[in-house]
Amino acid sequence: MLMAQADQPTPLKGLFAPSAVAIVGASRKEGKIGYSILRNVIDSGYGGELYPINPNEDEILGRRCYASLADCPGPVDLAVIAVPAAAVAAVAEECGCQGVKSLVVITAGYKEIGREGLAREKELLATVRRHGMRMLGPNCLGLMDTHTPLNASFAAGFPLKGDIAFLSQSGAVCAAILDWSLSVGLGFSKFVSLGNKADLTETDFIRDAALDTYSKVILCYIEDVVDGEAFLETARQVGARTPVVILKSGSSQAGARAASSHTGALAGSDLAYEVAFSQAGVLRARTMEELFDLAIAFTTQPLPVGDRVGIVTNSGGPGIIATDAVEARGLKMAELARETVEALRQGLPPTASFYNPVDVIGDADDRRYDFALSHVLADPGVDSVVCLLTRPAVINPALVARAIVARRREHPAKPVVAAFLGGENVAEASRELVAAGVPCFSFPERAVTALSGLARYRGFRERDREAHHPLTVKGVDRGRAAAALDRAREDRRVVLLADETMEVMRAYGVAVVPSGLARGPEEAVVLAKQLGYPVALKVASPQILHKTDFGGVRLGIKSPKETMQAFFEIVEDTQRHLPRASIYGVEVQKMMPPGTELIVGMSRDVHFGPLLMFGLGGIYVNLFRDVSFRLARGLTWGEIEAMLADTKAFALLKGYRGKRPADVDAVIDTLGRVAALVLDFPEIAELDVNPLFAYERGEGVCALDVKITLSE
Ligand code: COA
Repeated sequence: MLMAQADQPTPLKGLFAPSAVAIVGASRKEGKIGYSILRNVIDSGYGGELYPINPNEDEILGRRCYASLADCPGPVDLAVIAVPAAAVAAVAEECGCQGVKSLVVITAGYKEIGREGLAREKELLATVRRHGMRMLGPNCLGLMDTHTPLNASFAAGFPLKGDIAFLSQSGAVCAAILDWSLSVGLGFSKFVSLGNKADLTETDFIRDAALDTYSKVILCYIEDVVDGEAFLETARQVGARTPVVILKSGSSQAGARAASSHTGALAGSDLAYEVAFSQAGVLRARTMEELFDLAIAFTTQPLPVGDRVGIVTNSGGPGIIATDAVEARGLKMAELARETVEALRQGLPPTASFYNPVDVIGDADDRRYDFALSHVLADPGVDSVVCLLTRPAVINPALVARAIVARRREHPAKPVVAAFLGGENVAEASRELVAAGVPCFSFPERAVTALSGLARYRGFRERDREAHHPLTVKGVDRGRAAAALDRAREDRRVVLLADETMEVMRAYGVAVVPSGLARGPEEAVVLAKQLGYPVALKVASPQILHKTDFGGVRLGIKSPKETMQAFFEIVEDTQRHLPRASIYGVEVQKMMPPGTELIVGMSRDVHFGPLLMFGLGGIYVNLFRDVSFRLARGLTWGEIEAMLADTKAFALLKGYRGKRPADVDAVIDTLGRVAALVLDFPEIAELDVNPLFAYERGEGVCALDVKITLSE
């Protein structure tokens, strides 16, 4: 786990809290980027040494200017570079020679513009690495640290001091959020424009922010992650102490295209991101509004101990809207204790509602709110509270706000959020709440979403505290599987034949149907006899993945005569439908008794590696789509169990409508074995076990059909 220590420097201290900063390309001309950066560093109150660098100037903004880095009177920790792209490489080289350790490269014209830019970026990165420097950018707005303080950017402003670390892959998003945050009074610890992420990536900054003592929550806007494995590892560790909330764009098809052209990001499949975030304990925000609503909740509220929400409202409609939102966001409406209901009945008007949502009705003043809140907050069955208000003329919302603040102080362990609906009528009261550390939103759904973020994060933490059983599987013969894969490769095939896939599965201890490959009809008869009738015959051809579609399968064959006939028919049918398919023979399989039909699959994601799938199998997989996904990397037995529980198929496995329970342990074991296989062999691009028959408890499972495709 990452632990922050008060006086311990974080790995990126040289960027965020340098002792001396040089601005290369500093300009005296207002309106130029080199001018804005220098102005910002000065205006932020930076207390270290500051060296403007420009060969044509002696002094800028009252600071002595130097012709080059070599002329600076002292060592430089951080160089902010804002010279044209053609000049950056030479400046970076000089930085390296002068012992500068950190660079912020503002200049654009790198991989975001195409091949020429990409080559320039690679050259710049090589220089950075050669000198052991670290670099933010290129093509970024810069960075800010309110605690140093340092504004090493050309943004129009400097954030308020606070405890939110914000990272953004888009400079424009940075600029907009900064301006908005100033208008609503939201404070930040760090503010980073990631740019092209050539060297330092989101993962480096997430790790660093988790180690500083100021950042209570880490917010990111990203379009992709650079290194999925490092990201997962870091996010897992960081999440145990600091919540990480990410808005990842490009989730729609159109969005993905926009993301690729924007920072030249290769947007990975959104599903893999979804799964990766959830497995790593990262909260995914769907909108920018949600991103910041969660940030506000995390920086002001404790984590709730459970999911049960109490609502106090002075109007029915918003109370119902909030109730719906509670259910929709995976929270529960608290059931108030009998004593609470009785107390409310005694103290509220008879027309009020004494059950959750507690409706103190339209004419409720601050005393009535105070009374209701005191009882709802004290109820042991309530884990968090939403306080709603719409303003009729007869009440003073500011007094209600004060009552909420006072009551909340008595229950510091329970999160309290508010939604005061309206505009000018409730603006002052809302401000009072926010100033006192009670998030106040304009609509009930936002308040509930904020609470649900806290509860989800608590869930992640609890999950991580549970004993993790790392995935180790016994009885694996790696060499045997490798030999089967090699056979396909030697044959210049990317699709494995059935006897090869079965061999791979057997090598990893997965129970497969007894079978063998027959190259001729006589061989088929011998095999069938060995396996015992009835048998199934299936065409063996690397070109045919869906055999049933071409008449390539015969089931329930009971005699040598039928076997011969089926062999010829299968070969003829296949040749007729796919004359160019190479037929390697026919797979003879023992007919297995029917079990619950499941599917176990894997496809490889470019960022996060093998993505496992489990669900209801058979020929209707695509129709029912009853499947769940997990990344194989870092998977635990507990997560495999959760993966099963995510599907409706799980209800079948547990024993649906009088059916006896299936061998769930054997299914879990099979998933673990497939995960180990695809992690051991990165060349396996795709894998499908469909169907996997699950038998009754103690009877195990059986893979009937396995497809394995290798990467080209
Ligand atoms: N060392 C020191 N100073 C240098 C230099 C060097 N090697 N080379 C040039 N300079 C000086 C110039 O003389 C100039 O000073 P002046 O204003 O006194 O004339 C200054 O550095 C800037 O150079 P200039 O040629 O005027 O460039 P510019 O200011 O028009 O553009 C960038 C430079 C970096 C701003 C521009 O190339 C760029 O990339 N703009 C886009 C930035 C961006 O959008 N980033 C992403 C945001 S999300």
